[in-house]
Amino acid sequence: MDTARFEQLLKQAMGLDSASIGSASVERAVQERVSACGLADVRSYWDRLSGSGTELQELIEAVVVPETWFFRDPASFVALARLLRDERSPRQAQGVLRLLSVPCSTGEEPYSMAMALLDAGFPASALRIDAVDISHRALARAQGAVYGRNSFRGSDLAFRDRHFVAAAGGHSPADAVQRLVKFRHGNLLDGLAAGAELYDVIFCRNVLIYFDRVTQDRALAVLGRLLTPCGWLFVGPSETALLSDHGFISAKLPLAFAFRKGPAPRTDTGLRATPAPSRSMRAPAPAAAAPRPARPRVAPSAATPRTAARAETATGIDRARRLADQGHLAEAAALCEAHLRERGPTAEAYNLLGLVRDASGKTDDAADQYRKALYLEPNHHEALVHLALLLQKQGDAAGAQRLQQRASRLQHGGGA
Ligand SMILES: C[S@@+](CC[C@H](N)C(=O)[O-])C[C@H]1O[C@@H](n2cnc3c(N)ncnc32)[C@H](O)[C@@H]1O
Repeated sequence: MDTARFEQLLKQAMGLDSASIGSASVERAVQERVSACGLADVRSYWDRLSGSGTELQELIEAVVVPETWFFRDPASFVALARLLRDERSPRQAQGVLRLLSVPCSTGEEPYSMAMALLDAGFPASALRIDAVDISHRALARAQGAVYGRNSFRGSDLAFRDRHFVAAAGGHSPADAVQRLVKFRHGNLLDGLAAGAELYDVIFCRNVLIYFDRVTQDRALAVLGRLLTPCGWLFVGPSETALLSDHGFISAKLPLAFAFRKGPAPRTDTGLRATPAPSRSMRAPAPAAAAPRPARPRVAPSAATPRTAARAETATGIDRARRLADQGHLAEAAALCEAHLRERGPTAEAYNLLGLVRDASGKTDDAADQYRKALYLEPNHHEALVHLALLLQKQGDAAGAQRLQQRASRLQHGGGA
């Protein structure tokens, strides 16, 4: 008996496209279950599996890939704090922010969301994070909340000193962090039975890659329904291309993989609003901020030599940003460095290099790059915000606060 039937069943049950993990992995999982059930062969296992929800769940447990760690793709968490602070809708500003991590696996992702927002100064009372996964085993580990070395990767682990306590076998998030996250079992493809309220932010990272195109479409339709009209959806680095096909609009924050739900929400007058420009690398400073050089447009055909040169510059940085967005950090850094060497220093290039270094876990170097950007452009809102978050993470609360205040003054129309 071949594994095709099992593959078909898993696709129906959880969306798994066996090509994404290889048929051999499904076969291994089936064999594991045959042994665990003490059965003679795969055919007997098929009979056992047919009609048994419990055994189907066991097979799902055997094929899921629960790989995750704290602050995976760190720029996403920086962006989370920033987008919620800079672009809060009136509804969000008044009330509680609702966030969802699906799939949450063993809990590192939703706990990272909680820590990032607490570090950014959001009060615990304003945050509610739901965390959902199809694996009971992963959820049990999430609720056990003891994390070993594998959950802490990269060199910037200052968050562990701030938010964890030592526990037998590893570290546990402090109660203040654990209290913010509610775990529950659920299947993304079943729509997650949303309550009356929708989510302001959804992290759905590193699961769409295991689905085929039709299932990805289904999952994105579910996510679209669960998001508020101004909500943000974060995906994994290899999942970004799908989003624009579904009308989501990139926040254009390098390495954050963040998208706004599109099309733009209707205004009170019933007219379609222009999509709010995200305070992104492309247009970072708020309208009332101290003047920053306008971002050069890509070469109009009748460009003057000067505008053509600026357009070329923009193209180089745009390419670096795109590479960074796709997770090609080394290439993005190399382009930024080449740009700085060949065209001289610009705040934009230093800021982008800072983000790339930050995402690579090279935090000291990242801080240096942000500082260079600020030396060139003291009112560079992006660099101010990112350096503030970095200092906060490194435990320099006073330094972070000073920069944050400068960024806020810009935001509210004053000089920094
Ligand atoms: C690689 S982990 C991703 C965890 C986390 N989002 C991250 O990026 O680090 C994939 C998770 O997807 C879960 N999963 C797979 N199919 C699912 C589905 N249909 N609904 C909910 N969770 C699912 C698995 O149980 C596993 O824990």
